[in-house]
Amino acid sequence: MADKRLFTPGPLTTSERVKRAMLRDLGSRDSAFIQVVREIRQELLKLGGVANGEYEAVLMQGSGTFGIESVVGTVVPPDGKLLVAINGAYGRRMAEMAERLGIETIRYTIPENQPIDPHEIANALSADAFISHVGVIHCETTTGLLNPVAEIGEAVRKAGRLLIVDAMSSFGGIEFDASCADYIVSSANKCIQGVPGFAFALARRVPFAATEGWSHSLSLDLHAQWRGLEKDGQFRFTPPTHALLAFREALAELADEGGVAARAARYARNRTILWEGLGTLGLEEYLPRELQSHIILSYRYPRHEAFRFEELYQRLSDRGLVIYPGKVSDADCFRIGCIGHLFEADFRELVAALGQVFDEMGVPVPAGGRA
Ligand SMILES: Cc1ncc(COP(=O)(O)O)c(C=O)c1O
Repeated sequence: MADKRLFTPGPLTTSERVKRAMLRDLGSRDSAFIQVVREIRQELLKLGGVANGEYEAVLMQGSGTFGIESVVGTVVPPDGKLLVAINGAYGRRMAEMAERLGIETIRYTIPENQPIDPHEIANALSADAFISHVGVIHCETTTGLLNPVAEIGEAVRKAGRLLIVDAMSSFGGIEFDASCADYIVSSANKCIQGVPGFAFALARRVPFAATEGWSHSLSLDLHAQWRGLEKDGQFRFTPPTHALLAFREALAELADEGGVAARAARYARNRTILWEGLGTLGLEEYLPRELQSHIILSYRYPRHEAFRFEELYQRLSDRGLVIYPGKVSDADCFRIGCIGHLFEADFRELVAALGQVFDEMGVPVPAGGRA
């Protein structure tokens, strides 16, 4: 039976080609495997536009959250202070992990339907000389909102502080220059369309090289991980060999598609089909269009007594189409991801299925709006 299609922010639908690349057993000290790791690290620097010798790419076992925690826990010094700009659940998560790590943390929180204003970050930094680092989410997957990381990066650099960007759901799917930040984090199973198993950070070498011994964690020590990779090309602890093989193939697949620009264009076409199709069905987008990414869209629940998200989810899932629950804190929403190995035909099918399911549920669709 064919796998269900995942209209989610990851793990997401991957290609046959990427899945097939995992059908090998490689020893973690084997030269062929070390070559895979080397190629991936080089390719990530190129993708970020930072293959100029100023950055290092470090891979870390675990999901994206482990990657963020390894960066936050390693690069903020014992006497440092982190300002986290929050307009969604992932910003809150970064602040929570910093607090748990005992890092002095300031939460700058704004509503989830507003982007972070770089001027506000500049003001916060000029008001507090002890803030050493700023953390921000590029695409807040909570809503799909894009924060202006280039402008925030400029404000942080002007103030002489360092910027950590969670680019989990944007890296490889949105064109941007990673050099706006000192640390950029993403993971294998997002826009590069690999399978889960590891995260990665691009780190500006000069500040990063000074972070030795700052991490309180052995396994999540990003600096020690880097030193290990540099020394002999190996991971310190068991690497996700199959996920790395899949990822190398996913990087080749991304290049074959035409790189990040072409992938972003495909995701944007997927989004257009959702915008048009779900608009016709009378669904309301949570964000104004100018704030939306082409990564994931949030839709408000239809205002009708017959609507229940669990039923919508199940009926779509029975048709092999998986959507995602909402995460917005002050509005009932569901989400549909535009990313993964999915194309216009898949999104047209999803729109048609949504129309049918609303019919079955007795949720009225505007006149003439049946897909
Ligand atoms: C922006 C962002 N940050 C962090 C994460 C956490 O990643 P993971 O679920 O792989 O730990 C996600 C997951 O979707 C995300 O979208």
